[in-house]
Amino acid sequence: MTVHFIGAGPGAADLITLRGRDLIAACPVCLYAGSLVPEALLTHCPEGARIINTAPLSLDEIMAEISAAHAAGQDVARLHSGDLSVWSAMGEQLRRLRDLDIPYDITPGVPAFAAAAAALGTELTLPGVAQSLVLTRTSGRASAMPDGETLENFAATGATLAIHLSVHVLDDVVARLTPAYGADCPVAIVWRATWPDQKIVKATLGSVIEATEGARGRTALILAGQALGAEDFAESCLYGADYDRRYRPQSADSPWSEWSDGDD
Ligand SMILES: C[S@@+](CC[C@H](N)C(=O)[O-])C[C@H]1O[C@@H](n2cnc3c(N)ncnc32)[C@H](O)[C@@H]1O
Repeated sequence: MTVHFIGAGPGAADLITLRGRDLIAACPVCLYAGSLVPEALLTHCPEGARIINTAPLSLDEIMAEISAAHAAGQDVARLHSGDLSVWSAMGEQLRRLRDLDIPYDITPGVPAFAAAAAALGTELTLPGVAQSLVLTRTSGRASAMPDGETLENFAATGATLAIHLSVHVLDDVVARLTPAYGADCPVAIVWRATWPDQKIVKATLGSVIEATEGARGRTALILAGQALGAEDFAESCLYGADYDRRYRPQSADSPWSEWSDGDD
């Protein structure tokens, strides 16, 4: 018996890995985080599967479901939105499973930031503009931010920021980013990326509050940084005609390194 943690992707039901889909189809028990996991994914469950929305359950109640499946020798598909490595509450479940000696594995999913970048049609790391992406959030009722992980500190780096769980405090986000990034810094907000009601607003730090007036819904990502919509950036060396590299050596005695750090 194994608990299979599966990244369910950002919303569109076909943005799940083949492995994730096949695991759902093979498990007689499915626990899904109903607030963001699309119900359409549940059509992959086998007939007669026990399917439980964990949104109203406590951690103890979730563990009771898993323990019952374990006692019955039934595999569990555990679905969380996006990818499991960020803001999935998987860590505390894994710790309990380790304590109980219940086996588990993890299948990654498409995270919301990647879905939002795709919806915007943009790369978040552009040569000479931004080479780092910070996945962050602001303090919420359930989770305070650790000291040092402030928007001001991240903004000081000039990196592209993908700010989760924060669109309801947009005014505060804008006030904290503007001193470092300036009022003309591009910002995009993507609500419910890849869902049928996806919505996008592109603006600047100076205009985004007015541009989003009346926009509703908390499931949104705020992306900020000069990489958004930039056209004035250098081409990467990767595909440069005279760039000497392992997969395209320029001469027989090319000193290309032992490994490629490109994406091709
Ligand atoms: C609890 S976190 C889950 C993050 C998820 N594990 C991931 O990999 O993206 C929920 C937050 O992620 C963002 N989010 C999740 N799905 C989204 C989507 N389809 N479009 C935009 N933002 C999304 C929002 O900021 C939302 O408040």
